[in-house]
Amino acid sequence: MKTLELMKARHSVRHFIDRPLDAETIDALQAEIDACNAESGMHIQLITDEPEAFHAGKPTYGQFKGCRNYLTIVGPKGKDEETGYYGERIVLKAQELGVNSCWVALTYRKGKTQGVESNGEKRYLVVALGYGETDGATHKIKSISDVSDYKTGDPDWYKAGIEAALLAPTAMNQQKFRFERNGNKVKAKAGMGFYTNIDLGIVKYHFELGAGKEHFTWA
Ligand SMILES: Cc1cc2nc3c(=O)[nH]c(=O)nc-3n(C[C@H](O)[C@H](O)[C@H](O)COP(=O)(O)O)c2cc1C
Repeated sequence: MKTLELMKARHSVRHFIDRPLDAETIDALQAEIDACNAESGMHIQLITDEPEAFHAGKPTYGQFKGCRNYLTIVGPKGKDEETGYYGERIVLKAQELGVNSCWVALTYRKGKTQGVESNGEKRYLVVALGYGETDGATHKIKSISDVSDYKTGDPDWYKAGIEAALLAPTAMNQQKFRFERNGNKVKAKAGMGFYTNIDLGIVKYHFELGAGKEHFTWA
């Protein structure tokens, strides 16, 4: 599947069927995680066959069912944007491998979650992984003018980048980001709110895939 199709096909999935991740899928995910950690200095870990972090309990926002696999996203402090950027790279790799996902900052059992933090590191959040009961549904999408200075006549790559960013997951689907362009320099800014710097990393990864990195540089 092409990357645009992967971005369109990815939706948050919170209910999973009782099927373990197969060995080749785990190897492919681990290879992507290793590459991301080597590039970024993050310490992202894949936890498999562990039911406790999402054991159903309180009926709150984002109820999960049958989740036994997840990414624990750990890294040095101050790496919110890298958390989003590299986490989404792994999420889209999972999508390519037929594995559904959901970013989770709040509605998991923090005390039961596995994964290690070294000195100076913190756990940012987790990403639930598994084979979904369904593939989820498209989120409500803001308009291009809500999130950017795009105007008619601007380059196609700029529009494609913003459209890809609008497909990205953001906390509570807040889509609080903004793109501005000056020639081939693009500035991406996070709005005010919870997790908006993590969201920014996620949407920047989508923007790069949509626009093509050869067309622009980040301002
Ligand atoms: C940083 C971040 C934190 C999130 N935290 C939670 C959460 O705690 N619980 C939950 O059920 N969903 C959580 N989500 C999933 C969002 O609600 C979801 O991505 C958004 O509504 C858009 O829907 P989509 O992923 O299907 O496109 C989070 C997403 C992001 C990016």
